[in-house]
Amino acid sequence: MEGHTPVLKTEILQAFKDVCGTVWDGTFGGGGHSEALLKQNPSLYIVATDTDPEASGRSEYLKKEFPTRFEFFQINFSEIADLHRTFEGVLLDLGVSSFQLETPRRGFSFRNEGPLDMRMNPTIGLSARDFLKKASPEALTQAIREYGEEPQWRSVVRAILEHRENENWETTTDFVAFLERHTSIAKSKKPHLHAATRVFQGLRIAVNDELNHLERGLKAAFECLNSDGLLAVITFHSLEDRIVKRHFYDWCGRSLTRDDAQPRQLKTVRATLVTRKPITATEAEVASNPRARSAKLRILKKL
Ligand SMILES: C[S@@+](CC[C@H](N)C(=O)[O-])C[C@H]1O[C@@H](n2cnc3c(N)ncnc32)[C@H](O)[C@@H]1O
Repeated sequence: MEGHTPVLKTEILQAFKDVCGTVWDGTFGGGGHSEALLKQNPSLYIVATDTDPEASGRSEYLKKEFPTRFEFFQINFSEIADLHRTFEGVLLDLGVSSFQLETPRRGFSFRNEGPLDMRMNPTIGLSARDFLKKASPEALTQAIREYGEEPQWRSVVRAILEHRENENWETTTDFVAFLERHTSIAKSKKPHLHAATRVFQGLRIAVNDELNHLERGLKAAFECLNSDGLLAVITFHSLEDRIVKRHFYDWCGRSLTRDDAQPRQLKTVRATLVTRKPITATEAEVASNPRARSAKLRILKKL
């Protein structure tokens, strides 16, 4: 398996180049960003976390290479307050890593046959298969319609509810075959998008409760950031980016819309935006790493 190529690495290195002290990498993944930051700045200390138990093993090489400047904890980033630490910088690079996507037994990908699991931390919560079997019609609709943004959501939800007592969906490919047989998703007009892409994205977000953890994680990250500290967040879809933008604008005392009822001067300003518009990947980066296509980086500085 290929390693994970960190997205917007140059831009992250540029943003953190003058940061001294401790940086929290809340989404360690394969450690690409952590490693680059440790190499760039010999006075930087990194506290890395990831909810995935397998990330811990991957962090060993950095513990060996930087024994006095690196430590790893397996926690969800929404639980960072439990570590009772403060930071000069925070990086959250959301979503799943290539390791998770490309390991069939983790069940994230419709391209590889594996158990229909999709949990970033497989020791807690329901697997995607159990979610499909047990979720209420409302929760299923939220996953497929809201999180997956699947235009054919009605057909998908109806088919799941109609067939879930008899279908087993042991593997990712069983589920894809089911979707192709019983729903209208194959009618998707997007040539480069596999028909199951949106359904898989919606299920993954639901199974890992990603948006709730992001809401809580952002607030927790802001609280453990010292004055003048940087918070950098890379998102991969509009649902995540909207949440990040709302929090950033709120902390910076800015209105999201013109008709925002609260006058600007009454908002408490707790931070300034370092990026007015999100940073996106260059054409060259997208050409060498297609995952970077939808990445958006927003950065703020706490006052
Ligand atoms: C895109 S990868 C990060 C890649 C990393 N920046 C690198 O350079 O290798 C995202 C990682 O964040 C982790 N993750 C996602 N949501 C999380 C959460 N709420 N708490 C902790 N880790 C999370 C995933 O398990 C995954 O390993």
